[in-house]
Amino acid sequence: MAHILVTGGAGFIGSNYVRWLLRTHPEDRVTVLDKLTYAGRLENLADVVDNPRFHFVRGDIANPDDVEPLLAERPLVASFAAESHVDRSILDPTAFIRTAVFGTYTLMEAARKHGIGRFVLVSTDEVYGSVVEGSSKETDALDPRSPYSASKASADLLARSYFTTYGVPVMITRGSNTFGPYQYPEKILPLFITNAIDDQPLPVYGDGRNVRDWLYVLDHCAAIDLVLREGEPGEIYNVGGGNERPNIEVTRLILDSLGKPHSLIQYVADRPGHDRRYSLDSGKLRHLGWQPRYRFEDAFAETVRWYVEHPGWWRAIKSGDYTEYYRRNYAHR
Ligand code: NAD
Ligand code: DAU
Repeated sequence: MAHILVTGGAGFIGSNYVRWLLRTHPEDRVTVLDKLTYAGRLENLADVVDNPRFHFVRGDIANPDDVEPLLAERPLVASFAAESHVDRSILDPTAFIRTAVFGTYTLMEAARKHGIGRFVLVSTDEVYGSVVEGSSKETDALDPRSPYSASKASADLLARSYFTTYGVPVMITRGSNTFGPYQYPEKILPLFITNAIDDQPLPVYGDGRNVRDWLYVLDHCAAIDLVLREGEPGEIYNVGGGNERPNIEVTRLILDSLGKPHSLIQYVADRPGHDRRYSLDSGKLRHLGWQPRYRFEDAFAETVRWYVEHPGWWRAIKSGDYTEYYRRNYAHR
């Protein structure tokens, strides 16, 4: 029986991981530490809050008073907590740097002090920067190009230094663009699906030819869990979905699956410093025993269906803070 501390467990991937964990490992206990920022929502965990194996703590990974008592219990740690949206990092990087750098430092210091068993830091393929051709390997140089990806690369390097210097058993996963239920409707998939449902324009940045490699959230969760339990301390593992698609293709797929017209596509000004393509070589993780279980087409259709069937979840968000944010920053484009 394991006790797993999940930081950022009220966000998109974290909440899917918690649900998956409680289902897949019936002996394990799970504690979530989450600050509940705009992206962290207890509604995402509504179906597990009454589970006796689940415990929620509201707190900040950058605050030692919040982190210390939890790491003193010496759980396994899966750390998802971060600011995660590139556009927000361009508008104001402050929270990104604070959470990624001071948050990771705080977690690492507590992990070192209490001698915890295993720690996975959830990082991203964006740390490699824009990849014109070929696929990134774990040994490639980092070239982050947005405040978001630079904050993640900083956390990634800092965590690894605690392995090299102090022997803290840290593993790092670098995952690709993840999709599924409970994703905040500021990211392209949930934003475009929910806009299309409401016959609103789909704002495609630039020429729409930027390529992302799509990974279903449950495949990402299984990869993180495998690395947590069986990864080699100090090692980095790429997690790529193997589904590279230009944004415009994904946009058309959304419209087609909802029976909406392509005239909803609206080309808008490009994101500053917009990375053209990400691509991962996931051979190392496959060698450890992981492979994606879900076909892209099936997982994509399932995801669209989830947003169609859960309008209450995303309407509450879009009618409040998000709508205001979007109006202020993007509506003029
Ligand atoms: P998200 O924005 O949906 O969730 C982030 C969660 O972290 C929220 O619950 C938020 O409240 C919490 N949080 C933020 N700052 C915190 C702090 N200081 N202390 C405690 N909790 C805090 O993000 P997501 O899309 O679920 O991403 C989770 C992790 O996976 C992030 O580290 C992200 O960089 C990484 N990642 C995401 C993707 C993707 O496509 N979404 C791909 C690869 C890696
Ligand atoms: O690659 C992994 C990363 O994927 C994660 O580390 C990040 O946390 C996650 O947010 C995601 O980053 P992206 O910047 O790739 O995701 P986003 O959904 O913001 O954008 C995906 C692509 O779609 C990107 O090329 C920009 C484009 N886009 C995005 C939005 C929000 C648009 O064309 N229009 C939009 O309105």
